[in-house]
Amino acid sequence: MLKPVDSLSAPEAAAELERLAAEIAGHDRHYHEQDAPIISDAEYDALRLRNEAIEARFPELIRADSPSRRVGAVASEKFAKVRHAVPMLSLSNGFSTEDVNDFVGRIRRFLNLSESEPVGVTAEPKIDGLSISIRYENRKLVQAATRGDGFEGENVTANVLTMQSVPRRLAASAPDLIEVRGEIYMSHKDFAALNEKQIQEGERPFANPRNAAAGSLRQLDPEITKSRPLKFFAYAWGEAPDLPAKTQWDVIQAFASWGLPTNPLMKLCSSIEELLAHYRHIEMLRSELGYDIDGVVYKVNRLDWQQRLGFVSRSPRWGLAHKFSAEKATTVLEKIDIQVGRTGALTPVARLKPVTVGGVVVTNATLHNEDEIARKDIREGDTVTVQRAGDVIPQILGYIPEKRPENSQPYPFPAECPVCKSHAVREERASGKLDAVRRCTGGLICAAQRVERLKHFASRNAFDIEGLGDKIIAEFYADELIQWPHDIFTLEERDRTSLKRLKNREGWGEASVRKLFDAIDERRSIALDRFIFALGIRHVGETTARALARHYHTAEAFREQMIAAADLDGEHWQELNAIDGIGEIVAEALVQFFGEPHNRDVVDELLKHVKVTPLEARSTSSPVAGKTVVFTGALERMTREEAKAMAERLGAKVSGSVSKKTDLLVAGPGAGSKLKDAQKYGVEVIDENGWFDLTSSPAVAGEEGAPTKLG
Ligand code: IVH
Repeated sequence: MLKPVDSLSAPEAAAELERLAAEIAGHDRHYHEQDAPIISDAEYDALRLRNEAIEARFPELIRADSPSRRVGAVASEKFAKVRHAVPMLSLSNGFSTEDVNDFVGRIRRFLNLSESEPVGVTAEPKIDGLSISIRYENRKLVQAATRGDGFEGENVTANVLTMQSVPRRLAASAPDLIEVRGEIYMSHKDFAALNEKQIQEGERPFANPRNAAAGSLRQLDPEITKSRPLKFFAYAWGEAPDLPAKTQWDVIQAFASWGLPTNPLMKLCSSIEELLAHYRHIEMLRSELGYDIDGVVYKVNRLDWQQRLGFVSRSPRWGLAHKFSAEKATTVLEKIDIQVGRTGALTPVARLKPVTVGGVVVTNATLHNEDEIARKDIREGDTVTVQRAGDVIPQILGYIPEKRPENSQPYPFPAECPVCKSHAVREERASGKLDAVRRCTGGLICAAQRVERLKHFASRNAFDIEGLGDKIIAEFYADELIQWPHDIFTLEERDRTSLKRLKNREGWGEASVRKLFDAIDERRSIALDRFIFALGIRHVGETTARALARHYHTAEAFREQMIAAADLDGEHWQELNAIDGIGEIVAEALVQFFGEPHNRDVVDELLKHVKVTPLEARSTSSPVAGKTVVFTGALERMTREEAKAMAERLGAKVSGSVSKKTDLLVAGPGAGSKLKDAQKYGVEVIDENGWFDLTSSPAVAGEEGAPTKLG
């Protein structure tokens, strides 16, 4: 007999989570890899639900290998990897008319277009399937790869070759080389028929058409893929040295003329009103389309503009996914927990009675901050409406008044840190308004902040130490094996002389300990951007870390300059603020971080154990790669923002002031003191046309992620 979740003790819960992880993983293998489940769906769902219910009660016990962390099909080792010649990036999302206005406004500003200049934008359905890149050489399909992490996907060529809707050959008018990108999906009708067949054959039905399409494509045996009715729409491209046209619209028309399936609902619009009208039109047709879509994708039509607009982080400035509003469900909010983040932020999390929203079981939802709870008057015990959109954390929209319990009380947001009991305060912003977030003032005396910092440090996009997941960090922290980031790098050495050897810990053995030490050793050398990101400085995300790494090159220089930047009248503070993408808030956070002696100690201790390597320049082929460039005066062919972005794309560092370290000054009409400084230091000076002559040499075409140059 299983004990009710409510009466489990923590050790019992831990043991059960371990058992459930193993059992569910076993069933997943039967299901995904052997295509032969050995239990019914209901039994399987019950296992997962129990796992989630226990996790909801004991969030600190959530395992790194928990089934709730694995989404979709198991990441597989079974397909060969393919490196994408041009990364497969994603679109940023918009949800409202305002977001669409902002999108078009941003484009206008970036390109410095006059109000009267029309901006052509295509609008087409956002297909809810899985994206694929299909390479044609001499018009023959030679390779197909899934998106994977955007840089490396799985080679599914044999499977795609079985799909009727993907041509094996393109028409004679197609170029010698092109990577066609688009979405593989399954229609509602085919999905229903497939599921019926699955059930008849005693197999587990798929949760939705997207899963069915993904599961069908990622089959080791292409014969299985062949038996599954997968469809395809082409809507973009990767490597394409000679594109057939100069606009998005015309390229897609050419795709169609070569025999590729394209979506009939694509429309070329010339105003925001037209975009929104087409959005509503597609939304209205949504239920009749016969396949799943989750929004409308907008793309700037002119490809030369797309090229100029380029990318921010991992999304193009020239595109937007305007999503439909999300799916909703109601459930009981059992409890509000307060989590303490690595920068001390107290975040309220709603623990929910498990409920299925759009095919996914939801047990937690974000409540954002205390104002949000007060504004919506959300209380423990309420029946609430939960919304889930895509992969974002589910949100609570509001409560249902008729279902509010009689004794219900407004939620009192704590004024002290639930972990270290330090005061929790809301900082006053420069504007005089209170910050939305209440923060624990305990800093590194707060165990929660320290553990969170350690988790962040070892996490995937930071040091990425395999085997040192959140749960292990929490355990090692509690047992005082790891208190500071550098402790990770002395773990093995200390273990050798320890009385409590790691290999004797419960759940560990000789082999797993060796594996962990090896994983740690692999990270004794690390790129500077990851190093900076790993420090967990407030407001310093991956993009900012990269900008800092590009600018300062070495960890030592970065450290010295951040300390020196504390002098707000000095050149180092100015230099920091002049880096593209670094605003005052980030600059202040950096100075504050390095102003704390214990943070400097953390960095110094780390540098004794790890070798930090400079970031590779983004473009090594461009004539301005690695150079420090300053723009001054009026620019006529591009906006300042565009100039900066272009220079950085070409591997240059953009600075706001001229010093002896400056390599190049691009001076437009009206240039003043910077021009004088350049003459004083003997810095090369060119005008805007000179800049274009310099950078438009063939070597710089087709930079990272940008659409390839027109042929
Ligand atoms: S264009 C730079 N067009 O949405 C990315 N994407 O977040 C260009 N998708 O991974 C993508 N329908 O899987 C584009 N009509 C459409 C799309 C579409 C679905 C997916 C695609 C991509 C994701 C973007």
